[in-house]
Amino acid sequence: MKTILCIGAGYVGGPTMAMIARKCPDYRVIVVDIDAARIKAWQSDRLPIYEPGLQDLVQLSLNKSLFFSTDVAQGIREADIIFVSVNTPTKTFGQGAGRAADLQYWEKTAREIKANSTSDKIVVEKSTLPVRTAEAMERILHSGNKTVHFEVLSNPEFLAEGTAVKDLENPDRVLIGGHATESGRRAQSALAEVYAHWVPRDRILTTSVWSSELSKLAANAFLAQRISSINSLSALCERTEADITEVARAIGMDARIGSRFLNASVGFGGSCFKKDILNLVYLCHHYGLKEVADYWEQVVIMNEYQEDRFVRQMIATMFNTVAGKRIAVFGFAFKADTGDTRESPAIRISRFLADERASVVVTDPEALGNARKDLADLGEKISYDPDPYKAAEGAHALAVMTDWAEYKTLDYQRINESMVKPAFIFDGRNCLNHQALYEIGFNVYPIGKAPLSHL
Ligand code: NAD
Ligand code: UGA
Repeated sequence: MKTILCIGAGYVGGPTMAMIARKCPDYRVIVVDIDAARIKAWQSDRLPIYEPGLQDLVQLSLNKSLFFSTDVAQGIREADIIFVSVNTPTKTFGQGAGRAADLQYWEKTAREIKANSTSDKIVVEKSTLPVRTAEAMERILHSGNKTVHFEVLSNPEFLAEGTAVKDLENPDRVLIGGHATESGRRAQSALAEVYAHWVPRDRILTTSVWSSELSKLAANAFLAQRISSINSLSALCERTEADITEVARAIGMDARIGSRFLNASVGFGGSCFKKDILNLVYLCHHYGLKEVADYWEQVVIMNEYQEDRFVRQMIATMFNTVAGKRIAVFGFAFKADTGDTRESPAIRISRFLADERASVVVTDPEALGNARKDLADLGEKISYDPDPYKAAEGAHALAVMTDWAEYKTLDYQRINESMVKPAFIFDGRNCLNHQALYEIGFNVYPIGKAPLSHL
């Protein structure tokens, strides 16, 4: 029986390995991490991440063919295929700070693989990495060791949080980049075999390593670009009385454009869009392509503009002051169906409101633990309540930051009665029934469409 190891038990490593274990009973799957608390949580009935369907998926294979451990060295010794799925955040120090990928965790992993390998391995880059990272990994792995052969593949992950299980079960494509050598092709086939247990062969795409690495950055850049494009037009809609939902529908019906990822919002969040675009920007500068770098950087600049525009409009609408006013932030996760708050627009907006001396209360069904950590330095200036009705009590305004399904079906009549008047709703996700809210008595401020105001 072959053994698959995954180094990094995070949002990608955990769900991906749970799916492989489920679909490939002829493999033993081990997931290791240096974070002992995380490993313990994966073995419990309260997983370290919230993802619909994930608990059931893990339970199906846990301690049968799927194992979680902190023993990285032993995992490496036993593995035939090693996925590296460690975090690759934006560098916060030194050269390239604020843009380049911080490769320290990834490099440490390469060295650990090298130190503990006594047989040939296929090493799979699952993390999102700058183009040509595999080259550096190969150099580290092969330095001073001629007895063990390492074949490095790039196999980026395209799952989105909140739909990870669905995305893994039915991916649009699986991308496997490898070298055009005999051992490179053999390794590509071995990895394709794993996915072919459940993914149709025509969706398993093989390319060069460099194309694969770049395709991951490009896919995220294209997706984020669509959001910044529609958000840029939402600002124009607000000035011209055009309606961004109607515009998105009209352009999305063109089959060449397509209808998905055209929802105007307070801005995109998540751990990857911003980081991966900045990484792309850094790479372009590195290769002397300033115009290309500037083109992509604009996607991030537009996103920050959208977040700031939203909160400035809130303050302007509430008579240019929110000092002392209670404002309920509805949703802190960067999107629905996840507890993840990394780069969530709610962070920047809550901070902005707290700076303006508003009394901010945050509610979210899954993300309050992370919210508390993100805003820890603000202390008493922020309070937290899992119950949206309690959060809204005595508030001057609601700011909808996450499109949780349950926010659509709340009793807004009851909420309106408990709020200070005039009561405002700023819908940063355009996910509520604006007309119905207006009729209840709210002053409603959506994104990219005319406000519905009684004032
Ligand atoms: P994460 O932070 O949730 O998980 C990474 C894990 O790696 C952490 O638990 C950390 O403790 C562990 N780790 C770090 N160094 C280690 C080491 N030396 N040995 C063992 N474990 C180590 O990150 P994530 O969200 O799972 O992202 C991982 C990678 O996948 C990133 O490159 C990211 O860009 C990419 N990605 C993420 C998503 C997503 O939806 N989150 C989707 C596609 C791709
Ligand atoms: C994104 C990509 O969709 C995945 O393919 C990729 O694997 C992943 O990044 C990654 O590399 O980490 P994710 O960030 O989990 O996935 O979630 P998305 O559904 O892409 O949403 C990102 C952000 O954009 C969210 O804040 C969401 O609310 C926002 N969004 C999305 C909009 O504002 N409008 C839209 O039309 C779509």
